[in-house]
Formats: sequence, structure tokens, C-alpha cells
Amino acid sequence: MFDFKGKTAVVTGGAQGIGRAVCESFGEAGAAVAYMDNDPEAIAERDLAFREIGYACLSYAGDVGEEGDVRKFYDAVLKQYGSVDFLVNNAAIAKAGFDGSISAFEHILRINLTGAYICAHVFAPALNEGGSIVNMSSIRALQSEKYTEAYSASKGGILSLTHALSISLGPKIRVNAISPGWIEVTEYQKESGRKPFRVTEADKIQHPVGRVGEPSDIANMCLYLCSDMASFITGQNFIVDGGMTKKMVFV
Ligand SMILES: NC(=O)c1ccc[n+]([C@@H]2O[C@H](COP(=O)([O-])OP(=O)(O)OC[C@H]3O[C@@H](n4cnc5c(N)ncnc54)[C@H](O)[C@@H]3O)[C@@H](O)[C@H]2O)c1
Repeated sequence: MFDFKGKTAVVTGGAQGIGRAVCESFGEAGAAVAYMDNDPEAIAERDLAFREIGYACLSYAGDVGEEGDVRKFYDAVLKQYGSVDFLVNNAAIAKAGFDGSISAFEHILRINLTGAYICAHVFAPALNEGGSIVNMSSIRALQSEKYTEAYSASKGGILSLTHALSISLGPKIRVNAISPGWIEVTEYQKESGRKPFRVTEADKIQHPVGRVGEPSDIANMCLYLCSDMASFITGQNFIVDGGMTKKMVFV
């Protein structure tokens, strides 16, 4: 459906989960892909799989919350590909030992929000005219369960960062956010990290579309937002949740 031959896509958190699906989709669409992840075991597994499929893919082990790591990743990407067309800020942590401490709160913000800013800041100068940044938010930016303050705040921050960047980087670069709902990523984890998980009928009917999400549901939106078909769209947030947040719940 999409043709990204001659384009380069940079993805954070690309070794597993939604990020892995985004890398695969860009690869299938002909783009050269570079991803950064902080899990060496998952990277080794993914690199082997990408090589077998035959995608042009550069991987880098590093932390998006560390400017030095992102700058080294940037140097490696520029050395290999020369320039960049798309940046997908996907890496994030959900809990990371949530214990109510201030340091735990700051750690989650550092990875999920500051990390996206660092990547945008470092990569923006290398983005080609017509390039695109996609930031991964969450429906938790807009509604909450108990004790999710840090994650929710980080994802709310992503929405504001998105519209701010769209103003600063336009018209050369478009910047949008995706807010995924429930995306079942078990099969996209490294083998040692896969936990058996069964989606129940109740889980399915909670969604107006009758199923939980798959990583490809988010990858599809990501590629659309990077394509010329979305050339009039910037600064926006797209909820991709199978309609779950539109369903009224009476208890
Ligand atoms: N899966 C869902 O249901 C869901 C729902 C809403 C939003 N999201 C968002 O989508 C994105 C991907 O989520 P996922 O479920 O695929 O997560 P995941 O945990 O399956 O994958 C995240 C990847 O990011 C990497 N990573 C974590 N911290 C990093 C760091 N500091 N530096 C570099 N890499 C790092 C991990 O090693 C992993 O490979 C996240 O931004 C998440 O908040 C996911």
C-alpha cells in the first residue's frame, strides 16, 4: 500500500512490541530502517530476524533518555544513510518500579517524554524536506486508572510536545501523535520475555470493533502519517483503539 523506497525511517524502541511492527512495516514498504533500543537481547534476536527477511536495518543499543546515546545513534544513522525522512518516537516504559517516589515519577518522564524531545532535537536537523515525526502517546493521556500518574503525565506531555514541535518544525516537517488503545504485543516480545496471555470474550466485546488491537494496527497509522497522503495533517493526535474509549460504561 505504501512505497517508501529511497526513504529512511528511524524508530526508537524498535526491537519489540509496536516499534518492531513499525520497523517491519517500513521495511516491507521499501524504506531503510534504523532503530534504537536498550535491550541487547531483544536487539540480537530482531537483527537476526531482519537479516533473514532481507531488510536494510541498522540497530543501536542505547537509552533514549541519555542525550549522549542518542547523539551516537544519530552519528551511526547519518554515516550509514546520509539523511533521515521519518522519526518515530515509540520507546517508553509503563511502570519501571512505580513506588510513588518522586524519583520513579521523574524516571518515567525522562524516558517517555524527555526521551522523545531529545530524539526530535537531535534528529530534526537531518530530516529531509517533507519529513515526518510520529510520537507514540496513549489513550492514558486522556483517561486513567488508579496509580498511573507518571505514565499518564508522560503521555499527556507527548500530546503537547507534538503540537509544539509541529509549529517549530513546520512547514518543512510534519509532527503528529498516535494514541494506541489496548494493543496485544505478546507475540512481538523477545522470546524470553513472552508471557502466556489469553484475550477473553469480555475483553473483545469491550471494543466496538470486536477485538483487541494488534501492533500492525498502529504501524498502519504510523506509515499513513508519514506518507504524502497525510501532507495536510500536522500537530494532531489520532486515537487508534477499536472504539474502546467511545463506549459508555454504566456500573
Ligand atoms: N501496547 C499497548 O497496549 C500500548 C497502548 C498505548 C500506548 N502504547 C505505547 O506504544 C509504545 C510501544 O509500546 P509497546 O507496548 O510496544 O512496548 P514494549 O515494552 O513491548 O516495547 C517497547 C520497546 O522499547 C524499548 N525501550 C524501553 N525503554 C527504552 C529506552 N529507555 N531506550 C530505548 N529503548 C527503550 C524496550 O526494550 C522495547 O523493545 C510506547 O510508547 C507505549 O507507551 C502501547
